[in-house]
Amino acid sequence: MVLPAPRPGFGQDKIKQLLGIIGETSERWNVSHVEKISLATIERLVDFHAARDLNLPEISAKIDALKARFPELSKSEEIEAGAITMRRADLIATLPNDPDAFFKSRRSIRLFGPRETFDFSCLEHAVRLAQRAPSVCNRQTGKAYIFTKPSDIDLLLRFQDGNKGFGDTASALVVCTSDLSNFYKVGERNQGFVDGGLFAMALVYAFHSLGVGTCMLNWSQPAHSDSKFRSVCRIPEKEVIITMIAVGPLREEYLVAQSPRRELQDVLFIDDPDLVSLPRKVM
Ligand SMILES: Cc1cc2nc3c(=O)[nH]c(=O)nc-3n(C[C@H](O)[C@H](O)[C@H](O)COP(=O)(O)O)c2cc1C
Repeated sequence: MVLPAPRPGFGQDKIKQLLGIIGETSERWNVSHVEKISLATIERLVDFHAARDLNLPEISAKIDALKARFPELSKSEEIEAGAITMRRADLIATLPNDPDAFFKSRRSIRLFGPRETFDFSCLEHAVRLAQRAPSVCNRQTGKAYIFTKPSDIDLLLRFQDGNKGFGDTASALVVCTSDLSNFYKVGERNQGFVDGGLFAMALVYAFHSLGVGTCMLNWSQPAHSDSKFRSVCRIPEKEVIITMIAVGPLREEYLVAQSPRRELQDVLFIDDPDLVSLPRKVM
């Protein structure tokens, strides 16, 4: 619906398949938010076609039948689905005044302020913001398990090897995961790490935007350490651990590592003439 020139009447086969799936999953597991979003999306597409003089009576009848069978699906008008119009000026108005300063002031914090000064409500706020991270097919596989009890943080950090000397000063510890049950084909074998990494990154920037300090803590563990950790932190087996994040309040003044960056020419390649050519003919 948001492409420059949508193909007239597109999506009807997918709609039919999806209507079948909504019926099946609603029957087996009751109507959840996902079924509501799915049906609302279908209805927006039906409206989209109707506005272009293409009525789909067969599909509309199936929608009505589904709603009659599962009344909770009836309120799908209230769901955010389909396309919305954005305005450039509105978007520009939301941007930071000084992007360089915003990006440069995000530093890994290893010197947190005292726990008493930490506003724990920022945890939920930051995760809500991080949920806006892009994810493959909008599957949103990233999850944040957050621990705030000092004894839990202390226990869990014993399994991580990069927090000595500061981890215990964090007010909260996030364990970021990606739920691999959202992936189904071999080509997606690394997607959990991509989506989970993006979610973790978005979470770090979300905290930054709220003025909260973070330090990512690697989960570069061999399988046996990963399973030992899971024996004390019972994250479901179907989820892969992406990274931990130490979170805490900022002090009035604090030291950070300079962490210089590589030269730009080592990481940026624009229109490199050696990189693009038509494939050689296969003999
Ligand atoms: C996935 C990941 C894991 C990290 N693990 C650790 C860690 O275990 N301990 C630590 O002190 N810093 C850790 N860091 C922070 C990096 O050292 C830091 O991001 C890098 O040096 C750049 O510094 P900056 O974040 O202040 O810009 C990690 C960063 C990432 C992205």
